[in-house]
Amino acid sequence: MTNSITIRRPDDWHVHLRDGAMLQGVVGYTARQFARAIVMPNLTPPVTDVARGIAYRERILAAVPADMDFTPLMTAYLTDNSDPAELVRGHAEGVFTAAKLYPAGATTNSDSGVTDVANIRGVLEAMAEAGMPLCVHGEVTSADVDIFDREAVFIDRSLAPLIRDLPELKVIFEHLTSEEGVQFVEGAGANVAATITPQHLHINRNAMLVGGIRPHAYCLPVAKREKHRLALRKAATSGSAKFFLGTDSAPHAREAKESACGCAGIFNAPFALESYLAVFEEEGALGRFEGFASLHGPAFYGMPVNEETVTLERVECTVPASIDAGAAELVPFHAGETLRWRFAG
Ligand code: NCD
Ligand code: ZN
Repeated sequence: MTNSITIRRPDDWHVHLRDGAMLQGVVGYTARQFARAIVMPNLTPPVTDVARGIAYRERILAAVPADMDFTPLMTAYLTDNSDPAELVRGHAEGVFTAAKLYPAGATTNSDSGVTDVANIRGVLEAMAEAGMPLCVHGEVTSADVDIFDREAVFIDRSLAPLIRDLPELKVIFEHLTSEEGVQFVEGAGANVAATITPQHLHINRNAMLVGGIRPHAYCLPVAKREKHRLALRKAATSGSAKFFLGTDSAPHAREAKESACGCAGIFNAPFALESYLAVFEEEGALGRFEGFASLHGPAFYGMPVNEETVTLERVECTVPASIDAGAAELVPFHAGETLRWRFAG
């Protein structure tokens, strides 16, 4: 039996680090496990221009504990009014690694997102030309579409036409949650990849709704039925370079989740690698863990892999029921569960 696994240090290709006291409270969990992370721009106000990108990056770096080496990779929040020249300049100057498309109203702080992909056509053309990747929250927001179908419908209505029209654009279909999404990414060209979260590999929608409503299992896109979870597990552990790690760790204070209108988001950063590794072990794919966690992401983004390594040991570790993150109490993913692996550094 394998009792320890050492891989190149991974990166997190999708994380919410927030700002202010919450940023102070959470950034160390990500920086401890990951060398780099694609940081989501959905602050209030959102990170829409180069000056805000630089300022946010500085706030993150100032909050990283002194004994940790961590590079935040910034993203620009696209709106109907995004200026192509500003985004391309941010990319050329090394401020923005990518830009993020939130369909308006799809999720937390997405009110100023894009109301119709046609409105940002000029931006997407400029990004394709500049080689700037597009991170996509792939859900439609129309009231007539059932929330469990919103990813599949987004593929048909928005993503497939976009990729057909702009085959040069690098697209990351983020936090994939459906079998349709897996099939779409597998069938698309080399410029299309996807991230997968730990929660969508572990839970289906029953976790949210059976035996009582469980707000800490609620995130967007919402977990779907079991066949989708199985398709995601197969994709993540397949060895395909199109799929890589992106936690979508999204902290919200306990009271903001345990509410009549609870926020979407699962805080999984503290035990992210332990959580993913459990899946790879269950699928008999320990040998493919390094590709998913540490190699496919840099290859897609055109960045070097990390030189350092990290080790996980087969030692049981119990996830606390809650974590004190300074200003807020957070309930982590797997709260109260015992995981089989422990991150050893
Ligand atoms: C994210 C958040 O809280 O910022 N929530 C979530 O459920 N994943 C936003 C997002 O990525 O959709
Ligand atoms: Zn997210």
